[in-house]
Amino acid sequence: MRHARIIGTGGYLPERVVRNEEFARWLDTSDAWIRERTGIVERRFAAESQTASDLALEAARAALAAADTDAGALDLIVVATSTPDCIFPSTACLLQAKLGCRGAAAFDIQAVCSGFVYALATADGFIRAGAARRALVVGAEVFSRILDWNDRSTCVLFGDGAGAVVLAADTRPGIHASVLRADGSHAALLAVPASVCGGRIVGSPYLRMDGREVFRFAVKALEQVARETVAAAGLTLADVDWLIAHQANLRILETTARRLGLAPERLAITVDRHGNTSAASVPLALDEYVRAGRIRSGDRVLLEGVGGGFTWGASLVTL
Ligand code: ACO
Repeated sequence: MRHARIIGTGGYLPERVVRNEEFARWLDTSDAWIRERTGIVERRFAAESQTASDLALEAARAALAAADTDAGALDLIVVATSTPDCIFPSTACLLQAKLGCRGAAAFDIQAVCSGFVYALATADGFIRAGAARRALVVGAEVFSRILDWNDRSTCVLFGDGAGAVVLAADTRPGIHASVLRADGSHAALLAVPASVCGGRIVGSPYLRMDGREVFRFAVKALEQVARETVAAAGLTLADVDWLIAHQANLRILETTARRLGLAPERLAITVDRHGNTSAASVPLALDEYVRAGRIRSGDRVLLEGVGGGFTWGASLVTL
């Protein structure tokens, strides 16, 4: 039987660190409010010249080096992003050119904060079907480009960054099971409604969110899909060594772990230093915990995303 394994991880955060106190200079907010409601202390913002594919390139290079793999050996590149460099070509194609390779299939996935889990499950499907042997899967975001700096209920929540993994075909299961879900009837609760038409931006190009409703939905969705995914893998929650859920809000993470009966020390947390980096949050957290030696080879890790759409999903993975 053919499976996909993660053979290398990488991450990249832009240099500029923005602490909560900075927002209080022009907004009616405070470090105390942001910390207490979200767990966020600081986040990174990309330089004006940096695009999603630039961030993706740094994360991809780190993942390829960790996997001891040349970019030329890839036969699939999937990038999850909601903040692409442009309408087209895809950020995946731009990344491929920056990596200096050609020929591999390359495309983007748009599932907002579930994007990485959607991309991972897609690449896993390609590998299991025999359509690819080595895949690069990236989550890369510059959410700072779509924030309304006068909306205190959203602009303090997000950050920029990229995370990546290299997948390889193997006889041993790395990715045991994935479950992907969506419910488009909630589209208006979390959206950037703008489109481009006739040379103009039509509708608001800024992120809008009903935070309370998103919170309520997220904790339910993350619990439900975790249970479904573990069952689909023929395992139980007792078999899970680490939970890496989308880093939107510390309270969502802690509530999810508690509902699943997972001990707090099994929960990966990066939201305090990264903010919500959307599709990049899960691979960035994975890379940070792997590089710190906290997640080790053989550990079972439950990766989970939830975000605009609504979309949600999970993958159970042995590293
Ligand atoms: N500073 C100070 N006060 C604020 C701020 C701020 N930055 N933002 C909102 N407030 C105020 C509100 O105006 C409100 O004031 P009022 O009572 O006078 O009206 C008060 O704080 C409470 O507002 P709530 O929205 O009820 O606060 P809540 O405790 O729900 O926290 C938050 C808001 C942090 C947004 C929370 O709802 C949340 O985390 N929701 C989930 C968001 C999320 O995870 N989004 C990402 C999903 S993934 C994706 O796809 C992008």
